[in-house]
Amino acid sequence: MRVIVVGAGVIGVSIAEALTHRGADVAVLDMRGPGRGASQASAGMLTPYSEAEGSSPLLDLCTRSLALYDAFIARLLDVSRGSIEYARTGSLDVALDDDGVAKLLGTKVALDTTGVESEWLDENAVRQFEPSLTPAAHGGLLTLDHGLVGAESLVNALVHQARLAGATFEFPIESLSIEQLGESVEVRALDRTWSGDAVVVATGSWSRRVKIAGVPALPVRPVRGQLLHLQWCEGDLPGRIIWGPHCYAVPWSDGTLLVGATAEDVGFDEGTTVAGVNALTSGVIDMLPHASGARIESVRVGLRPALADELPAIGPFTSAPRIVAATGHYRCGVLLAPLTAELVVNYLLDGRHDPAFVATTPDRFARN
Ligand code: GLY
Repeated sequence: MRVIVVGAGVIGVSIAEALTHRGADVAVLDMRGPGRGASQASAGMLTPYSEAEGSSPLLDLCTRSLALYDAFIARLLDVSRGSIEYARTGSLDVALDDDGVAKLLGTKVALDTTGVESEWLDENAVRQFEPSLTPAAHGGLLTLDHGLVGAESLVNALVHQARLAGATFEFPIESLSIEQLGESVEVRALDRTWSGDAVVVATGSWSRRVKIAGVPALPVRPVRGQLLHLQWCEGDLPGRIIWGPHCYAVPWSDGTLLVGATAEDVGFDEGTTVAGVNALTSGVIDMLPHASGARIESVRVGLRPALADELPAIGPFTSAPRIVAATGHYRCGVLLAPLTAELVVNYLLDGRHDPAFVATTPDRFARN
């Protein structure tokens, strides 16, 4: 089977790698290059219980995908020569006041009910456990299953593995239109046409610009996220991801910390702003006081691809079943990459419609 994957973010390259692993012939097209959209700014958090509401379709998708992560990374480690940073060191949600404590204790009850392992640390215990925290911390909820992955190294390893297995990558390719013609598909750019048996639309925030014949444009909108990349200079880095009321902080083995993130409706503006940096610096200093002595290495920006219900669009269009959506992953692209690849590959190569397609079908926007 020949599949054209449009979009080389973490979702597109995960699908390309999984398809080539199963013997498909894959061409990947992108307007910039692998991982140059939202993936380049991702903090790489694998934290479903902090990202998604209890008993929601999003939480189901995120926990299913997290369960695939060990095997997903293990398969890539040979080719990446161990260069993918991946750790399942848990995450700590921190309360800085009594309302925060009440909220986290509510989360703890919900996690207990569903059998998710977590631990409540009161104000003394939390400061002992994580000495980099502010003395004003009122308590913290440790979620043990959570983890992190270096998004850039992950994308590089996926591209490398897919290329070794025969995938081709072409960029910059812009102005795409897609059409199913009987048993085949055509993808057209300004002066080029690609033919195949199926196409996957993994174009993230730019999905609305892809014209699919007979199908309304996918109403994905960009939500800007600014992040600080800090070099830690004083005291110990936190030992795991810390979520506070105004930001999160992700520590890396090279002694840096990623602090995120703003969520701004500013269209396709990928600029950084004083207000964004100010919100993140004050948020992280409130939580981790030694952040005030850290050096700012860079300010990163990514456009998260959001759909109105904040669920991704994954699955075929009913009216054009050889065209498959894999976009709109909003805050959870890196986390949802292994599951998205598995669902798309199982559909394309085995004809399996995963039950998750009921919630993620791209047809849900045509109904409204
Ligand atoms: N997943 C974290 C963020 O989107 O900021």
